[in-house]
Amino acid sequence: KKYTVLIPAAGSGSRMGAGFNKLFLELVDKPILIHTLEVFENDPSCEGMILSVKEEERLDISRMIAQFGITKVKMLVEGGAERQQSVAACIHAHPSNGIILVHDAARPFIRHEVIRQLVETADVQGAAIAGVRVKDTMKTASDTIVEGTIDRSTLWSIQTPQAFRYEVLKEASDKAEADGFLGTDESMIVERLGFPVHIVESAYDNVKMTTKEDLLFGEVLLKHRRQ
Ligand code: C5P
Repeated sequence: KKYTVLIPAAGSGSRMGAGFNKLFLELVDKPILIHTLEVFENDPSCEGMILSVKEEERLDISRMIAQFGITKVKMLVEGGAERQQSVAACIHAHPSNGIILVHDAARPFIRHEVIRQLVETADVQGAAIAGVRVKDTMKTASDTIVEGTIDRSTLWSIQTPQAFRYEVLKEASDKAEADGFLGTDESMIVERLGFPVHIVESAYDNVKMTTKEDLLFGEVLLKHRRQ
């Protein structure tokens, strides 16, 4: 089953503290962004990628895409101040049917097998997201005083990709925009429709490169996979 992937890449990466977009940081031999794009470049089921970028980074990113021989990027659209707006810009640029994935540019370690399961589930059910069961004991707290402990068996840590039939994502995105609702992932805007979202069990190594420690882990993981 074929799909198109929307890749928000217009963040500022402030938590990385690099002073520039973290997606330009090299992981072993290539920028993080390129590692992520290569996953989809090398997946025969991926028909195309649409990236949202900061206007001032458009030129650098399009050069990088050419330099590393990435051929499936159809469009670079202008991102927004919030991640959801960056994804909405991609959705507006792609008025078409079929299965749509949304994937963080900052998650270069996603596995083809998880992508395949997400696409399959979204095709049948309409909405499927990648996640892993939480490993730690989870508590709520007011400031730093514990309020209570949440039953861990009901908790998932959610990642991307998140996969949807186009019309589900489009309706959710339009409604969120009309209501001024901002979610932290695409699933949240789909959940608001009352539409059931299915979790596909992913892997703990599908980490988002967010802070310096993630880069260390990323380098080790990449070297290990290449052995
Ligand atoms: O900041 P965080 O790592 O959670 O961002 C997840 C992804 O969303 C990153 O790939 C980042 O570039 C992208 N993003 C975006 N537009 C924003 C904020 C984040 O495209 N305004």
